[in-house]
Amino acid sequence: MAHPEVENAIKGFLLDQEKMAEVVDRMTKEMKMGLAKDTHPRAVIKCFVSYVQDLPTGKERGKCLALDLGGSNFRVLLVTLNGDGSADIQSKSYVFPSTLMTGTSDELFDFIAASLGNFCIENGLENEALPLGFTFSFPCQQKGINKGTLVAWTKGFNVPGVVGKNVVELLQQAIERRGEVRISIVAILNDTVGTLMSCAFHNRNCRIGLIVGTGTNACYVEKTVNAECFEHYQTSPKQSMIINCEWGAFGDNGVLDFVRTSYDRIVDKVTPNPGRQTFEKCISGMYMGEIVRLIVIEMMAKGVMFHGETSQQIQNRWSFQTAYLSDVESDPIGEYRHTNKVIREMGFLGNNEADKINLRRICEAVSSRSAKLCACGLVTLINKMNINEVVVGIDGSVYRYHPKYHDLLTMYMKQLLKPGVKFELTVSEDGSGKGAALVAATAAQSK
Ligand code: BGC
Repeated sequence: MAHPEVENAIKGFLLDQEKMAEVVDRMTKEMKMGLAKDTHPRAVIKCFVSYVQDLPTGKERGKCLALDLGGSNFRVLLVTLNGDGSADIQSKSYVFPSTLMTGTSDELFDFIAASLGNFCIENGLENEALPLGFTFSFPCQQKGINKGTLVAWTKGFNVPGVVGKNVVELLQQAIERRGEVRISIVAILNDTVGTLMSCAFHNRNCRIGLIVGTGTNACYVEKTVNAECFEHYQTSPKQSMIINCEWGAFGDNGVLDFVRTSYDRIVDKVTPNPGRQTFEKCISGMYMGEIVRLIVIEMMAKGVMFHGETSQQIQNRWSFQTAYLSDVESDPIGEYRHTNKVIREMGFLGNNEADKINLRRICEAVSSRSAKLCACGLVTLINKMNINEVVVGIDGSVYRYHPKYHDLLTMYMKQLLKPGVKFELTVSEDGSGKGAALVAATAAQSK
């Protein structure tokens, strides 16, 4: 058993069934506001139109470049779609200097263009006029498949002068300034859309793309007639439109205050975007570690944990990595190999079992709340689509590396879904590569 003070501190994270159902209700309303033309401007869940209307058939063919910005790595990829449902991918990760996250717009786009140039030259592609799909994982209002205006930065990015601009144009200009390659950006897409596309490439029932990584968000397949912010929603010959929900912003109008804790409020204040991305800050990897750290230092101040010990490290903001939650929770009950490592790396010397039990309890509370809220989001989308069977393609470090996340998500979804609704949660490989290429290939063709 964890210490009563620890139990008391984590109380707010233990959402019961009733609260979860309330989250689903509220989210359903906010989603509808985002989709409808008259309420869209004041909606917090924006439900952006992605301009991707075709799910892959497997017959796509051609060579495309893809760029991936907005997760933990920056990557350039060359994707060859073979026409038989297979794809070959070559990629290179570039070290993304963290200073670029808060530098100037020119620095950011010049870096991307330079990396792209370097990749093309290394692969002998400098004279090929290849189409490029740009996976840009931030909220963008799109006016077309290759026009995306940045609405706000998230996940610690804060580059002045980009919000309100078409990022495709900024990148195209940077590519032309360098003059190394003949590349045209034919599509911009969110990482969730890439994830959905790459999963749907293999799995015909895939209708949702989910990311639970540094940030969180989902997209789903909506009927075109419901995508009112699409200018041709009534006349389009195509039945479907992928909607990029941007669900991270859910709660920015206060409707999630009933599930937030004092720790969430502290975390929010120290981010570069206070008051924004409320749902994301309760769920995603950028924030989970910091929430745990805040609870631990409160317990230390009360003399409940790490009694008599000090650690300089734990006092530093963001020092408790979200990967530590995965470490701690991967130890079998009663064993502490990974927990010991975390405790050591955090600079604690002692080896008290009660501390380890308390730490695990805190980590579990934070990860299970994350999975509960994510389940609420997925259930909202499944109810909205009103289907009885669905596959969800998922990517992101939390889903991939947390030892229990998949099982927790499955369990909470079952609790919330109507009986008889079947679902499958599956890792989607290479959304920002294969998914981006699928979107780019279709866009290049229709051009
Ligand atoms: C962004 C989304 C993105 C998600 C996952 C959020 O912060 O707003 O566009 O899909 O992170 O990367």
